[in-house]
Amino acid sequence: MDNFTYFSPTYFDFGRGAQAHVADLIRKYGGSKVLLHYGGGSIKKSGLYDEIVKILSDAGIPFVELGGVKPNPRNGLVYEGIELARKEQVDFVLAVGGGSVIDSSKAIAAGSVYDGDFMDFYRGKASIEKALPVGTILTIAAAGSEGSPVTVITDEETLIKKGARSDLLRPKFSILNPELTCTLPPYQTAAGATDIIMHICERYFSNTEEVEITDRMCEAVLKTVIYETPRVMKDPDNYEARANIMWSGMLAHNNICGVGREQDWASHHMEHELSALYDVTHGAGLAVIAPKWMRYVLEINPHKLVQFATRVWDIPMDENDSKATALKGIEAFEAFLKEIGMPETFADVGAKKEDIELMTDKVLRTKDTEGFYVKLKRDDVIKIYENCV
Ligand code: NZQ
Ligand code: ZN
Repeated sequence: MDNFTYFSPTYFDFGRGAQAHVADLIRKYGGSKVLLHYGGGSIKKSGLYDEIVKILSDAGIPFVELGGVKPNPRNGLVYEGIELARKEQVDFVLAVGGGSVIDSSKAIAAGSVYDGDFMDFYRGKASIEKALPVGTILTIAAAGSEGSPVTVITDEETLIKKGARSDLLRPKFSILNPELTCTLPPYQTAAGATDIIMHICERYFSNTEEVEITDRMCEAVLKTVIYETPRVMKDPDNYEARANIMWSGMLAHNNICGVGREQDWASHHMEHELSALYDVTHGAGLAVIAPKWMRYVLEINPHKLVQFATRVWDIPMDENDSKATALKGIEAFEAFLKEIGMPETFADVGAKKEDIELMTDKVLRTKDTEGFYVKLKRDDVIKIYENCV
């Protein structure tokens, strides 16, 4: 196991009706004037918006609001949010929605107290030294931004999608009420589950040895999501299954399962360019890319894929042919993705073969190789994208 530091200070309030505590939590974490940030309308349709507005008003907490965050959030709205936050002198950002809303909120929180262009953080030109506190009310189990130090933003001009990170961006509190996820369309539920699985896989596929504790934690989360997702696909109102998925989503990405080990992240970085270019739902893009990445790296570095097959998918070990065992694991993963309605190919998500070179250029814009489990060179990235066609 490698040396590590770990700091994860988010306060979680989990369960039915937990959003009722939002005013107390804002006060607890020093908020006296709030920017309420949300997405394209799902919270208005579900009634959550009215509920939060009433709670804040009843508690006497002044707020201004900015809706309209799109999936794969853009920098344009962040600039608007920064202007609004400064003009109104807010001291707290409340994100009500999914990963896109939370990431946009984190960007506003850091950008509104920074003198330069907030995109510096995403272009690697500056590091985040301070940020307004952020709280979240999560409405989709997926990105894990409710417990992560990460924000991912797409530059509207270049269509480059990049992350920035700082422990200062970890939410002060996150309210996780599984009931709020019952209104999700099935496609979003499935894409969210795929993203959760991949947050674990990016950590699980590692060359660091002797990491039994985090390996076993990863396997527990993977097995839970694999078991619970088909249950919610059949029965969207199944609270217990939703609850297990929601907590899995947090555990998958606040890095408790990833400490002390080298991590991969090639599938994610290759997907980010797919969703930036074609506005693909992030988890759906991962469903296309990840199995092709697995099949490709199997030829070069099979050992962790064998473990994935036997421990996660319960494939019996073929002592004479460990690679065949690993392949059965990948096939089981592919069958699972198909069962929950995820896409398989570029055609399924509207991506074009002609853009493979462009996406590869973006992935390798600042480095020579991508990923760590296998260090992919330019040709490797191109071949994996080509296998998605
Ligand atoms: O915008 P609204 O109307 O709210 O609709 C959203 C959106 O269309 C809808 N939705 C959310 N909750 C709902 C609901 N619809 C009905 N009922 C509900 N309860 O679902 C759609 C997707 O929402 P979004 O926030 O985009 O989903 P997700 O949480 O998957 O976030 C995806 C974004 O997070 C980034 C992704 O790249 C992508 O941009 N990621 C962020 C990470 C992080 N900050 O740590 C890590 C991830 O790997 C990921 O890259
Ligand atoms: Zn992800």
